[in-house]
Amino acid sequence: MPENAAWWQKSTVYQIYPRSFADSNGDGIGDIAGIVSRLDYLRDLGIDVIWLSPIFASPMDDNGYDISDYQDIAPEFGTLDDFDRLVAEARKRGIGILLDLVVNHTSDEHRWFRDARTARDAPLRDFYIWRDPAPDSGPPTDLKSVFGGPAWTLDPLTGQYYLHQFSRRQPDLNWDNPDLRAEIYRMMNWWQDRGIAGFRMDVIDLIGKDVDKGITADGPRLHDYLREMHRSTFGGRDLLTVGEAWSATPESALLYSGRDRGELSMVFQFEHVTQQWHETWGKWQPKPFDLVAFKRVIDRWQLGLADDGWNSLFWGNHDLPRAVSKYGDDGQYRVESAKMLATVLHFLRGTPYVYQGEEIGMTNVPFQRIGQYRDIETLNMYEEHLAAGRSAAAFMAGARANSRDNARTPMQWSAEPHGGFTTGTPWIEANPNHDRINVAAQSDDDASILACYRRLIGLRKTLPVMQTGRYAPHLSDHPAVMAYERLLDGERIVVLANFTGADVHLDLPDALKGTGKVLIANYPRSGDLGAALTLAPFEAFAIAFDSKPTG
Ligand code: GLC
Ligand code: CA
Repeated sequence: MPENAAWWQKSTVYQIYPRSFADSNGDGIGDIAGIVSRLDYLRDLGIDVIWLSPIFASPMDDNGYDISDYQDIAPEFGTLDDFDRLVAEARKRGIGILLDLVVNHTSDEHRWFRDARTARDAPLRDFYIWRDPAPDSGPPTDLKSVFGGPAWTLDPLTGQYYLHQFSRRQPDLNWDNPDLRAEIYRMMNWWQDRGIAGFRMDVIDLIGKDVDKGITADGPRLHDYLREMHRSTFGGRDLLTVGEAWSATPESALLYSGRDRGELSMVFQFEHVTQQWHETWGKWQPKPFDLVAFKRVIDRWQLGLADDGWNSLFWGNHDLPRAVSKYGDDGQYRVESAKMLATVLHFLRGTPYVYQGEEIGMTNVPFQRIGQYRDIETLNMYEEHLAAGRSAAAFMAGARANSRDNARTPMQWSAEPHGGFTTGTPWIEANPNHDRINVAAQSDDDASILACYRRLIGLRKTLPVMQTGRYAPHLSDHPAVMAYERLLDGERIVVLANFTGADVHLDLPDALKGTGKVLIANYPRSGDLGAALTLAPFEAFAIAFDSKPTG
């Protein structure tokens, strides 16, 4: 850890999914003006940075992760002027804006692709990845799209297939083409000059692929391209860059985010997510939560990046279920477990990310019919699983547990219709529990989940041990409790958390005993940690000690 931590190592990031955050004009779709109207709320929450999911021009096949013009804003979200106003208004409140850089692919409506598909010798043909049909005239390889079906689509006009790892309307860019890379860097610099605070980089581990060898993630040229990008764009600036990397391991994270590597600030890793997926049916088959396996992943990452690199910390995002539904209890102990999860996350070493609505304990949505879902992945997979012989009921149970739409229902601002998100009809139904779970019901309540997030985010700003202290895990094999310390220059924080809805009686190891000051707790708790204690359902607390105990 360098003496002076970078600003983004002390920051808390808040992710906004613009489509679902706040609708200013009643068309049922969230927009930039809506975000501006909620900036005071975000300032009061204490966050330093907003990660905006894509707001660029797009036909919205994948809700904006299919960009048709990198240098314009989708009209339903607003204009470039609105965006500049957002950057300026956020800055006044001490908040920076991260853009979502989606450069593994574009929309099929991007002018590059429209040109590329016109002829085999079209000027921009090589910006995308084209291959001849296989001898049987089928797809060139058996690579599958993440959203179902083959990752290749035949373009009849020129008789070749193009690669798309996501929908067929999201053709993959050819990063081996230096002119393409130069265009991307030019575009990034253009946004940087508009005053953004950095980039979240969509599926960035896919750009160095060698598709003929079947290598998509973590390909041979990935790190060369990232170093080139760094040199050509943000290298000379003090930005936060975070790459989405489903394939990342603690070892590869050191390549991405190592201090002297010249690549990114950090990556999003997903080992704690995919580990909970079913062997055959993936995320569409709920699996019981396994805390010991989960802690093993967290520990590997915390310890693996202890001396170099940097962790991102998150439980949810726009692709994942609601944290309280996934890792806590969204019924009887919703409030307790949401606070417990927040406490565990925010005391870890790394940069915490809060996904919109998490700070009020929003839950998964109980959709009963496939027609209530909007997400392209969920809709495609429904067809695919039924065709493979699975029952609709089994798939729907999986979707209720893990569909991306769980995270995409409207932000719940108040008990008004549609959670106060829109005065019109929302593009996706609001969660019916918005009458109980909403911002208005929590803003003045010191015992609320929202108040707990405010406190945690505030503590990180003032406690160096929380920012950069060493991480030391305890009770690794305990099936119900997560326990760890953070340590810095004689300062020490102990975090204990019960991940179950039952009382847990615990014999504390000597390292965790002592008398200190309670920083945060979701039940009444003194700063006295003796030999034994009982944790209430989903109880969590953090206690600060002045020095090592004499155990
Ligand atoms: C990332 C995004 C996801 C999107 C996909 C394709 O995983 O987070 O929402 O569908 O990339 O761009
Ligand atoms: Ca709108």
